Amino acid sequence: SDPNLVARATAAKAKLGQRVFVLGHHYQRDEVIQFADVTGDSFKLAREAAARPDAEYILFCGVHFMAESADILTSEKQRVILPDLAAGCSMADMAALPQVETAWELLEELGVAGSTVPVTYMNSSADIKGFVGRNGGVVCTSSNAERALRWAFERGQRVLFLPDQHLGRNTAVLEMGLDADDCVLYDPHKPGGGLTAQQLREAKMILWRGHCSVHGRFTLSSVNEVRMRVPGVNVLVHPECRYEVVTAADYVGSTEYIIKMIEAAPAGSAWAVGTELNLVRRLANAHPDKQIMFLDRAVCYCSTMNRIDLPHLVWALEELVAGRIVNQITVDPDTAHHARVALDQMLALP
Ligand code: 13P
Ligand code: SF4
Repeated sequence: SDPNLVARATAAKAKLGQRVFVLGHHYQRDEVIQFADVTGDSFKLAREAAARPDAEYILFCGVHFMAESADILTSEKQRVILPDLAAGCSMADMAALPQVETAWELLEELGVAGSTVPVTYMNSSADIKGFVGRNGGVVCTSSNAERALRWAFERGQRVLFLPDQHLGRNTAVLEMGLDADDCVLYDPHKPGGGLTAQQLREAKMILWRGHCSVHGRFTLSSVNEVRMRVPGVNVLVHPECRYEVVTAADYVGSTEYIIKMIEAAPAGSAWAVGTELNLVRRLANAHPDKQIMFLDRAVCYCSTMNRIDLPHLVWALEELVAGRIVNQITVDPDTAHHARVALDQMLALP
C-alpha cells in the first residue's frame, strides 16, 4: 500500500486515540485490515461493536448491513461510520421489505403465519431485521445458524429463512437432518413466490431466493477439479456456497472458522478454500508452510467489500480529526428498536 497513505492513516488514528475503534471484516483488503483494532466474522464484529461503549466513533470496515447492525447495537451517542457508502451487499439487496411483507401476508391468508418463525441472516437490511423482530424471529450469522434454527423450530412449525437460500438449506438439511423436500424456494419475483398453497403449508423451511454472487461461483466441478489436481487436498468452504459444493467439501464454516482451521492445519497440508479472495490470499501469505489455494481457477473478490480501500479510510479518519463526521450510518429508532430485539435474541442463543 502507498506509504504516504499508510503514514497519514497512522497519524490520524494516533490523534484520535481511544475515541475511534476500527472494526475490520475478514474480507477487507490487507491495506485496510492493518488498521483494524479487531478483525472478525459478522458475529464477532457485532459482539465487538456492542462491547465498545467508550468509543465515540466505530469505524466499520465491512459492508452496509454490518455497519447498520453496529449502529443498532451501540448507544445513541456513538457514531458508526462506513468509509464508502457504496459498500453494500448484493445478497442483502435481494430481500426488500415490501417483498417480505407480501410473502408474510400470503402466509397470513393461508392461516400459517402464526406458526411460522422468520429467521434472517445477518446479511440483510435493518428493515428486514426489524420485520423479523416484530414477528417473533431471530437474526443468525454463518457461525450460529444451526442454533438459530433450533430456537425457531422450538417456537413454530416452519421457518421463513431470509435472504440466503444456501445458508438456509445447508443448515436445515446438513446440520439439522431435515429432508431436502422439507425446503421450498420462495421467489419474490413470481406471484405467490412461485409456490402452491399446499407447498407453503407443508414446508418446514421456506427459503428466500437470495444468494451471494461471490460464493455462488463455486461449483461441484471446482471441487472435483481441485481434488484431481491436488491429491489429498482438504476442501474448506463457507456455508453461502451451493448445497452440492458444501456436500462435496470436507469442512464448512464461517470466515472465523476457516481461519481457525487453517491455523490448526499441519505444515505441508493442502487446502482449497471456497470463500472471498482477500481472505484466501491473506491466509496463503500468513502460512507459507501450507499449500493454500482458492477453490476455483477463476478468482473473485467481493467487489463491495473491496470498495473500502486505504484512500477512503484515510479520508474518514482525517475528517474525524478535523471534527467532521462523514458517512455516518444511522437506522431510524423504530426500525432499530425491533431489529435490536432480533439481534439481541441472536446474541442470547445458547
Ligand atoms: P461471515 O459471518 O462468515 O464472516 O460471513 C460474512 C459474509 O458476508 C460472507 O459472505
Ligand atoms: Fe455480500 Fe457475498 Fe460480499 Fe458477503 S461476500 S458481503 S454475502 S456479496
